[in-house]
Amino acid sequence: MAETLFLPQAGSKEEIYQALLPQVEALISGEQDLVANLANIAAALREAFGFFWVGFYAVQGQELVLGPFQGPIACTRIAYGRGVCGTAWKEKKTQLVPDVEAFPGHIACSSASKSEIVVPAFKAGEVFLVLDVDSDRLDDFDEVDQRYLEALMGMLEKTRTT
Ligand code: SME
Repeated sequence: MAETLFLPQAGSKEEIYQALLPQVEALISGEQDLVANLANIAAALREAFGFFWVGFYAVQGQELVLGPFQGPIACTRIAYGRGVCGTAWKEKKTQLVPDVEAFPGHIACSSASKSEIVVPAFKAGEVFLVLDVDSDRLDDFDEVDQRYLEALMGMLEKTRTT
């Protein structure tokens, strides 16, 4: 597909996700390299929603290691069970955090970050990747984000990882 996103200018968040996801699916279906696909997904999410920070951490042994992202520089390694990302890995489920200050063990890569959603992706029942989205506003994510971002991570579960 052409390397241009078509998004509704005045759409609701749900309408933007509905326009975005099929385009992301088309974009990644023609490419087998995981890093290339993650880089484009981070850019697409940033372009669509203007997120403060959006990116990926990949499981490597007992740690998550920073992958493609858009936004300010971030911590490179997160231990299993640590922070919001490590908790999503340990609990094998999405973490929706309306106020990061209220999340025990939250890792503050940036003091500007106020709310956060972290969504895991699975291979053979194990987490191999998490998507982390941070906002500089409190309570900026809800079940709509969770539903569509989980669908997006589901697309990556079907792709090869090399
Ligand atoms: N806040 C995350 C760390 C990653 S950065 O926000 C990009 C956490 O608590 O896991």
